[in-house]
Amino acid sequence: MSYYLITGGAGFIGSNFVKFMLKKYPDAHLVVLDKLTYAGNLRTLKDELKDSRCTFIKGDICDPEIVQKIFSDYPVQYVVNFAAESHVDRSIENPQLFLQTNILGTQNLLNIAKQNWTTGKDEKGYPTYLSDIKYLQVSTDEVYGSLGETGFFTEKTPLDPRSPYSASKTGADLIVTAYSETYKMPVNITRCSNNYGPYHFPEKLIPLIIKNILEGKKLPVYGDGTNVRDWLYVEDHCKAIDLVLHKGRVGEVYNIGGHNEKQNILIVKLTIETVRRLLKEYPEYMPACSAAKDSPDIDSWMNESLITYVTDRLGHDQRYAIDPAKITKELGWYPETKFEDGIVKTIRWYLENQDWVNDVTSGGYQKYYEEMYGGR
Ligand SMILES: NC(=O)c1ccc[n+]([C@@H]2O[C@H](COP(=O)([O-])OP(=O)(O)OC[C@H]3O[C@@H](n4cnc5c(N)ncnc54)[C@H](O)[C@@H]3O)[C@@H](O)[C@H]2O)c1
Repeated sequence: MSYYLITGGAGFIGSNFVKFMLKKYPDAHLVVLDKLTYAGNLRTLKDELKDSRCTFIKGDICDPEIVQKIFSDYPVQYVVNFAAESHVDRSIENPQLFLQTNILGTQNLLNIAKQNWTTGKDEKGYPTYLSDIKYLQVSTDEVYGSLGETGFFTEKTPLDPRSPYSASKTGADLIVTAYSETYKMPVNITRCSNNYGPYHFPEKLIPLIIKNILEGKKLPVYGDGTNVRDWLYVEDHCKAIDLVLHKGRVGEVYNIGGHNEKQNILIVKLTIETVRRLLKEYPEYMPACSAAKDSPDIDSWMNESLITYVTDRLGHDQRYAIDPAKITKELGWYPETKFEDGIVKTIRWYLENQDWVNDVTSGGYQKYYEEMYGGR
């Protein structure tokens, strides 16, 4: 058995990673540590939690006792840190929470991993470690700041964060680097572009737009909608993390990107068209569209007239684009899912999983936690 501590495993990317790893590695035991904030949903892992190879622990990555207890109870070899406050808009409202979780939480994980993995000291005084261990920090392309119309972020691009969210993720990356340099701890950092796919909380662009279209609500687009993001299907991100964790050179940073730059407004228009086409092609999806109950002629309203431009986000970065040449050359990774296919898969998933959407937005999942884990 190989033991993994997956923090933030009840969130969007973390839960997709848990599913991916359990399928891929029959001998993996995953301990999922998650605080279950508004963004963490235990029901997302309901099938995985029936598997004896997956253990869930509710707790905060900032809490040294709970993290130490996990290391005492399980021979953890790999830590993959997804846990974070992840929404830029929320960071503008409450920066302190972001610094707390994203920076201090990361430092707490590093510190306890280091204590438990250290075997002694070498002749220069550096700690020596158990073999087959690694700490992987899941970071973001937002640490590089904003690009103009041309160019790409490489691993050598200077860090230049601009929002409280990206500043906190940069702080976390720097403390991971400090553990690598100062204590020679085996670490990697991955910096990924925008993900999309199943189990994405509907406050982020694509799932929010899908939800609003189905409810016949306006689709808010920041500024003039020309901000550019590079979109990657979440499963491709999971594959990249797995590769870096097991094969990445110790101490290295790897950028992960989809080679798929799109303006936000184009994403919104494509999503409207695709939802409408799927509802017409597959009438069995129609019950997912609550607005169609009153207005069944969806052609008459499910169109660009739903778009509404809203005041731009403060300090909104104009463009992100990743150059993933390093991970492709060293580890053979490339984005397998074309955006045109990934977006259809994603929208179909939302059409088929309206219960999940209603659950995470109604707070019903908190109740689910109490039912499953109440009293523990
Ligand atoms: N979503 C993206 O497009 C994207 C892109 C690049 C990098 N990232 C990074 O990937 C990671 C995961 O992102 P996501 O989109 O899945 O986020 P998410 O918000 O969906 O999930 C975060 C998870 O972390 C948990 N969490 C929050 N604070 C915690 C704490 N103090 N202790 C324990 N658990 C806590 C939440 O309950 C939730 O389950 C984050 O570190 C994010 O910065 C995300």
